[in-house]
Amino acid sequence: ANERTLSIIKPDAVAKNVIGEIYSRFEKAGLQIVAAKMMHLTQEQAEGFYAEHKERPFFNDLVAFMTSGPVVVQALEGEGAILKNRELMGATNPKEAEAGTIRADFASSIDANAVHGSDSAASAEREVAYFFNDNEICPRG
Ligand code: CMP
Repeated sequence: ANERTLSIIKPDAVAKNVIGEIYSRFEKAGLQIVAAKMMHLTQEQAEGFYAEHKERPFFNDLVAFMTSGPVVVQALEGEGAILKNRELMGATNPKEAEAGTIRADFASSIDANAVHGSDSAASAEREVAYFFNDNEICPRG
């Protein structure tokens, strides 16, 4: 089915100047960028976004990292977009990510892992709405 998913290019990948290379991978895989913005997340925005991880031991480090520099947030649309984006990203831990995936090529650790992508239809819906109003989403139709 045609789906939307939320993608974040994290501070490490922005600092490495690979925004365009990552966008190319989305586009070459048939995903359209239907909304996009660069922003420097506040602590409150990062904590709210990752609320489901609040009790995890890595939560404070995750929030500190995600607020350490600018990120680029986008909604991707296409056939099976949620799974397709997860395949493009590779495993959360770049040491386990398959060759040729975004994390294998650009990530250096499980924290500085280059990208985030929604992991289910429910989280995609919540995460796209967390960053974008309906009038900021521009599907090509
Ligand atoms: P992300 O897809 O953005 O979702 C939560 C993030 O927490 C994850 O990517 C990792 O960057 C980070 N993280 C740090 N440690 C862990 C861990 N042990 N398991 C899962 N995620 C972790």
